[in-house]
Amino acid sequence: MFYDLLNFLGSLHPLVVHLPIGFVLLTMIFEFFADSKSIIQNRMISLGWLFTFISSLIASLFGWFLGDNGYYFESQIDIHRWSGILFVVVCFLVWVYKSLNLPTNTFLSRFRNVIVITLLTVTGHYGGSMTHGEDYLTENLPEIIKEKLGDDYEEISTISSRSIDSLFVYEDLIHPFLEDKCMACHNDENTSGGLNMTVFELLVKGGENETGISKGNAYKSSIFSRVVMSQRNEKFMPPTGIPLSFDQTKILEWWIEEGAKLEQPITSFREDAKIQKLLLHLYEVDIREKPFLETLVLEDLSENDLIYLENENFEFRFLSNKNAVLDLKFMGENITKENLKSLDKIKEHVVWLSIIDSKLSDDEMAYLPNLKNLTRLKIQKNFISNKGGRISGRSR
Ligand code: HEC
Repeated sequence: MFYDLLNFLGSLHPLVVHLPIGFVLLTMIFEFFADSKSIIQNRMISLGWLFTFISSLIASLFGWFLGDNGYYFESQIDIHRWSGILFVVVCFLVWVYKSLNLPTNTFLSRFRNVIVITLLTVTGHYGGSMTHGEDYLTENLPEIIKEKLGDDYEEISTISSRSIDSLFVYEDLIHPFLEDKCMACHNDENTSGGLNMTVFELLVKGGENETGISKGNAYKSSIFSRVVMSQRNEKFMPPTGIPLSFDQTKILEWWIEEGAKLEQPITSFREDAKIQKLLLHLYEVDIREKPFLETLVLEDLSENDLIYLENENFEFRFLSNKNAVLDLKFMGENITKENLKSLDKIKEHVVWLSIIDSKLSDDEMAYLPNLKNLTRLKIQKNFISNKGGRISGRSR
C-alpha cells in the first residue's frame, strides 16, 4: 500500500517538474524589469523564488520515488538527480537571501541566473533522455540534418559496405540493437531480473524467472515476448527509452523461429521476400543480389577430401546446399604450415576460416592469400605482428 503510494507519487514527477521551470523563468523575467527599490516588487520576487524552491523540492522528492523503481540507467540518473538537487539548494539560498532583503548586485544576480538556467538545462536534458531515449532531441530532425550530425549512420554504412556473405544475423543485425536498447540494464554488472544479455549463452538461458530464448518459438522467448507486449504492461521492455522498432522485432522473431543460431548467415534469409525488403530498408543490404557464394562454380567435394580435412584437424561445415563451399575451423592447438598446405587441393572451396588460439604466426599467415575465395577470417588469440596482419588485410 505504502509502496503503491510512493509509486503513484513517483509517476507524477514528469508532471510536477514543469512547475519550478515555469516559476523560475517568470521570476527571472519579472526581476529583470522590476524596480529594485520597490518593496512590494522585491517581495514578489522573493515569493517567486520561494515557489520555485518549494515546487522543485516536491518535484525532486517525487523524482526520488520514481528513480527507486530500478527502471533507469544509473549513469543518466546520477547526473539528473544531483543537478536537480543542486537546483533546489540554489533556489533555497536565493530565496533566503531575497527574503532577508540583503543588497543586490546586478552582475552577481545575472551570474546567478546563468547558473540556475544551466542547472535547469542539464537536469531537464538528462531527464528527457531517460524518458524519451538519448536521441530524443535529434530523432525528429529532418533526415538531411541528421546525416550532417552523423547520427547512427556509421553503423549502417559499415554493414552495407561489407560482403553479404560475411554477415551473421545475430552478430551483425540483432546484437547491435540489443546492445543499444537493452544491455545498459542487462550486462555483467547490472543484471536486472537476473538477465545478462552480453554473453550469448546467458541471453539464451534468460533471467531469474523466464527463458531468454526458446529456439524455434519466439513467443515462448522472453527476449521477444517482452518487446512485443502492450507498452502499457509493466513488463514491457525496455521500461524506458525507445522501444525496438517494428523491423527490429521482426528480425528478432524470424531469427528465433529459425532456431536462434549464433552463426546463422544473413544469406539464409534470402528466400524471404519480406526480409529482403527489410534488410534493404534498414541496412541497405541487398540480399537478392547474387552473393559471392553463388557466383562460385565449384565441384562438390569428395568423401576423401573431407576425411583428409579431418585428419589435418579441420572441422568443416558447408555454407550452401551444395557440398562445395566450406566454413573451416582449425581445432588443434598449434597450426603448422603443413596443416595449411594440406588445403592446397581444395583451396578454392575455403570461404570462411577460423584459426583461433592456435599459435598462428606470420609464417603461416603468409599462406592465407592463397585462399583466394576467403571472405571471412577469424584469427583471434594468436601471435601475429603488423606484418602478418597486412597480409590478411584483404579479406574482411
Ligand atoms: C532501463 C533498464 C532496462 C532496460 C533498458 C531493459 N530492461 Fe529488461 N529488465 C529490467 C528490469 C529492472 C527487469 C526486472 C523486472 C521485470 O522482470 O520486469 C528486467 C527484466 C527483463 C526480463 C525478464 C528476466 C526474468 O527472467 O525475470 C527480460 C526477458 C528482459 N528484461 C528483456 C529486456 C530486453 C529484450 C530489453 C531491450 C529491448 C530490455 N530488457 C531492456 C530493466 C531493463
